[in-house]
Amino acid sequence: MRMVDLIEKKRDGHELTTEEINYIIKGYTVGSIPDYQVSAFTMAVVFRGMTEKERADITMAMVESGDQIDLTQIEGIKVDKHSTGGVGDTTTLVLGPLVAAVGVPIAKMSGRGLGHTGGTIDKLEAVAGFHVEIDNEEFIELVNKNKIAVIGQSGNLTPADKKLYALRDVTGTVESIPLIASSIMSKKIAAGADAIVLDVKTGAGAFMKTLEHSQELAHAMVRIGNNVGRRTMAVISDMSQPLGFAIGNALEVKEAIDTLKGEGPEDLTELCLTLGSHMVFLAQKAGSLQEARAMLEQAIKDGSALEKLKVFLSSQGGDASVVDDPSKLPQAKYTFELEAKEDGYVAEIIADEVGTAAMLLGAGRATKESVIDLAVGLVLRKKIGDQVKKGESLVTIYSNFEDVSEVKEKLYENIKISTAKVDAPILIHGEVTE
Ligand code: URA
Ligand code: CA
Repeated sequence: MRMVDLIEKKRDGHELTTEEINYIIKGYTVGSIPDYQVSAFTMAVVFRGMTEKERADITMAMVESGDQIDLTQIEGIKVDKHSTGGVGDTTTLVLGPLVAAVGVPIAKMSGRGLGHTGGTIDKLEAVAGFHVEIDNEEFIELVNKNKIAVIGQSGNLTPADKKLYALRDVTGTVESIPLIASSIMSKKIAAGADAIVLDVKTGAGAFMKTLEHSQELAHAMVRIGNNVGRRTMAVISDMSQPLGFAIGNALEVKEAIDTLKGEGPEDLTELCLTLGSHMVFLAQKAGSLQEARAMLEQAIKDGSALEKLKVFLSSQGGDASVVDDPSKLPQAKYTFELEAKEDGYVAEIIADEVGTAAMLLGAGRATKESVIDLAVGLVLRKKIGDQVKKGESLVTIYSNFEDVSEVKEKLYENIKISTAKVDAPILIHGEVTE
């Protein structure tokens, strides 16, 4: 086989065989096919697309390019949740203990990564003593015993995707639905999921800014999952404004605790119940979505979800007393209020820009070397559609430095007030099961 022939075949709009796709991905992983040929190939994919069969084939080729996590020693159907990334997205912290409380095994591998706030592991490390440096054996034991554990990223998972994503980033070939969908799905499958619930965000703060693109990506990922034997569904959820109120690591841990107590923000609670119901249903712990939802609501009401959080934290060295006393979480030295300059209704809270304001405070990493300040961040006091009076607080700023003028300026620029009444945005834009 010659790479140039495969580039031409894709350029001319023909379907590649499984063997041909394997040849490309294997060759690229080991370095026998150079960057310039693969970038020509990915550009051909941008323009020609990929058939359903090609998408499944490239996903599995990337899964097989490296290690795969073996979760077969864990009892039950392992359902993983994946979010395409938003601002202040506290769902993972809530969903883990919540669905574990009704018996769904949560075996989560998580990372740090870049972003407006830290990754799930950074957030959890706001709890003193909590650590994810456990070995595989302990990880599996903990999930079997408690139904929930989180382990740090280890092993060499989907090296083909790492290399391909980095190449796409510098060759203008990120924006391709088959390449994005296969990239995301390969990582979930390599991490050992039997079933996958996807939270595809849509709106200003999301990777996909329009509903149409979000739906297209959701369909593509759901089809890949189902075609390779992993039951997969997607919820399309709103990210035109940040989710919940808190954006920041310790602040989001507190928000997750509130939500597990039944006292969380309405949108975060509703999204967790929706995603959680699908996880419980796919794990076959409930016969219908309605039944699954009732189980989760009960776990919040009777305190078992909160109890599960305590067990989870203490099993990995964390000080679980923060659950009853969140003031033990890292606290910022200063708080400032962002006061509304006029009367009106909140019309826009541009999520990614508000996320960047949290990053300016030190809540997230701008580069891999940045050090996160777990205590700092933002808590929204108003959301889109809320009425506001001049002088009322729009946002509380939690900071470890005194001069927050740059942060305030960014927030004022990106929180828009209108004199006309504004409707709150729809939270769930759709569900995709095929
Ligand atoms: N996120 C990924 O993991 N891969 C892509 O290709 C795009 C976004
Ligand atoms: Ca939040």
